[in-house]
This record gives sequence, C-alpha cells and structure tokens, in this order.
Amino acid sequence: MIMAPDVLVVGGGIIGIATALELVKFGYSVTVLERDKCGQGASWAAAGMLAPQAEQLQGELLALGIKSRSMYPQWIKEIQEITGLSCGYWCCGILVPCFTPPSNGGSSDYHDRSQLLQRIPELGEKVVGGMWYPDDGQVDNRQLMTNLVLAARSRGVKIMEGVNVTGFDIKNDRLVGISTSQGALQAGHYLLATGAWSRELLPVQVQPRKGQMLSFYDPDRRLKQVVYAPGAYIVPRQNGTIVLGATVEDVGFLPGMTAGGVASLLSNAIGVVPYLADLSIQSTWWGFRPHAPAELPYLGQTKYTNLTIGTGHYRNGILWAPITAHLLTQWILGNHQDPIVSQFRSLLTMAMV
Ligand code: FAD
Ligand code: GLY
Repeated sequence: MIMAPDVLVVGGGIIGIATALELVKFGYSVTVLERDKCGQGASWAAAGMLAPQAEQLQGELLALGIKSRSMYPQWIKEIQEITGLSCGYWCCGILVPCFTPPSNGGSSDYHDRSQLLQRIPELGEKVVGGMWYPDDGQVDNRQLMTNLVLAARSRGVKIMEGVNVTGFDIKNDRLVGISTSQGALQAGHYLLATGAWSRELLPVQVQPRKGQMLSFYDPDRRLKQVVYAPGAYIVPRQNGTIVLGATVEDVGFLPGMTAGGVASLLSNAIGVVPYLADLSIQSTWWGFRPHAPAELPYLGQTKYTNLTIGTGHYRNGILWAPITAHLLTQWILGNHQDPIVSQFRSLLTMAMV
C-alpha cells in the first residue's frame, strides 16, 4: 500500500502527466497510475500539430485552441528549464492548400500560388493557392512526452507504470478508492485521464478513432512549414523527419496498418508535395484518438465530488494540453474564479457522468 496522495491520476498520457506536473506546483502530492508505459498511447502516435486554425475548430473549441496555443511557448520553456532538453516546439506556420480558386477572392488568410511558392517552393502544380496560418505550428510530441515525464518525476510526481486501474469503489457521491492490478489505492481526489479507453471505467461516450501514420527522412530538410492538405497532412520536423498523417477510422481498437490507408496517405501527400515520392520511408504506426460527441472534450466535474475527468480530446489533445492542465488543476483546487476557468466554465461543467 502506498501513502495516499492528495491526487491519484489514472492515465499517463499528455493529459494526465501535464496535469500532474501542474498540480505539484500548488503543493499537492500526486501519483500517476499508467498500465503500460507513460506516453505510449495517442500522445505518442500524434503528429504534434498545434493547429486550431488549420483544423478549423469552431466556437468555444477554437477559443480553447487559440488560448492553449498562446500558452505553449511559456509551457515549453518551463519544461525545458526543468529537463534541459528540447521538446521540438516550432512555430513554423501551417498551409492549407486549395486546388480551385476561392469563389469570393478568399479571406485575408488566403495567399495565391505565386505568394505561396516564395515560402514553399516544393508545392505541386495542382495547388492554386491556400490559407496560410503563421501562428499555427508543431511540437515533437514524442520528445515532449519524454520530457514531461522527466519533469514531472523531478518535481516529485510519483509515476507508477504497469498498474492497471480496474474499477472505482464508490460510496454515495464520492470515490473511496480504486481497484488496481496491484491492489486497492486511495487518495483525496482522483483524475481520470485514460484517453480512448475511458469507457472501461466511466460511462462516457468516448470511442477510439484510429489514425494510421508514417514518416519519411529528408536529409536536405527542404520543407519548413506544415502542409495540411485534404486527406493528408505533412509535418516536417527540424531533424529531417517528415511525419505524414493520418487516416480517421471507426474500427474500434483494431491494430495495424492497411495497404489502403498507406496508399491514400501517400497519394494525397505526393499530389501536394511531389518530392516526397523520392524520400525513403522511415516508419509506420497507428494510434487511437479519444473521440467524444460533437468533438467536445470531457473536462472537469463528474457526478462524484472527488473525481475530475480530462478525456475526449480527439484530434487536438497535444494542442489542448497546457490549457487542460491549467483548467483541471484550478478546478481541483476549487479556484473557480480563475479567469481561464471562468472563460471555459460551461465546458468544465458538462461532464456529469
Ligand atoms: P493517451 O495519450 O492515449 O493516454 C491515455 C493513457 O491512459 C494511456 O497511456 C493508457 O495506457 C492509459 N490508460 C488507459 N486506461 C487505463 C487504465 N485502466 N489504467 C491505467 N492506465 C490506463 N493532437 C494534436 O493536438 N495535434 C495533432 O497533430 C494530433 N495528431 C494526432 C494523430 C493521430 C494519428 C492520433 C491518434 C492522435 C492525434 N492527436 C493530435 C490527438 C492527441 O494525440 C490526443 O488527443 C491526445 O494524445 C490524448 O491524450 P490523452 O492523455 O487523453 O490520451
Ligand atoms: N490532429 C490531427 C489528427 O488527429 O490526425
């Protein structure tokens, strides 16, 4: 039996670890329980785009994305100061290419082909113009996860890997403990951050949406911006790796790459950036996005007074990580007057499951 911490976090993905790191800043003792190794779920599989505009988020989710994107430089700085390691954060801009000219001349974000070629000479002939979002960017989500875990550990978060949480022990409106593969554990407060697997523990409507991905290596590092085309996005890392994603499949937790998935990613990407056809393929992988109805994440309150939830981040969990960590921490502290909590209060009180 471990000493009961103030908060037990279930799930060692970006949401669980980022929130644990934020909670210890306020003097809380925090333990994270991860059944596998931390950061091997969707947070490892992702492309790491920070793309509220290119992803065309709307309304409150766009506001959440823009606020979180603005928190990224400071958040990364803090993690890098603790670990001394780069997280591959790069405000490189994202282009959403168009294949036909916009009927109304386009918005102020629209650039025609000749303007785009000055920035991205590698564009294929079918690109006639596109929306250029200079404030969208990327982070190397795998480096970030490694560094977040290091930072959390060095700030006193206890991380227990290989511990499967199997159920909640509920009395009236409170959790009095959880069952795990290593016995029963207790805490003052609990945070559920189990991504696409959340339905195993609570009746949330979170479903997996599989994404297949692959990567190339470009020794010349020619591409310096993300190109977010229909059916394929192309994310060049600063180290020469180019990440290509992703399918969106409603196939449960079916593992593996498919020929059709790879074929469609390659043909969509090569149509937009033809020189990719000459590069060697480095690796392929897949992951499971935590999809929730209307693409709204479950954040904050549940019907159990000492159980908070942070799941259902679907396509934008890397982007939304800093703001989620802030919101969930302030919510757990009971600091409902915090300006960011006030701004997103309606999102925080939706998850009464
Ligand atoms: P996860 O990272 O999946 O972590 C959940 C963790 O909980 C896992 O480690 C799991 O093992 C653990 N767990 C589950 N059940 C239990 C249990 N019972 N006991 C103990 N541990 C448990 N987002 C972006 O912002 N930008 C992108 O470019 C982007 N691209 C993506 C591309 C793909 C192909 C995919 C799949 C996702 C992408 N996303 C992107 C989305 C993003 O990856 C997710 O929204 C985010 O990683 C979710 O984080 P999480 O911590 O909730 O889940
Ligand atoms: N946000 C990119 C993806 O989920 O594929």
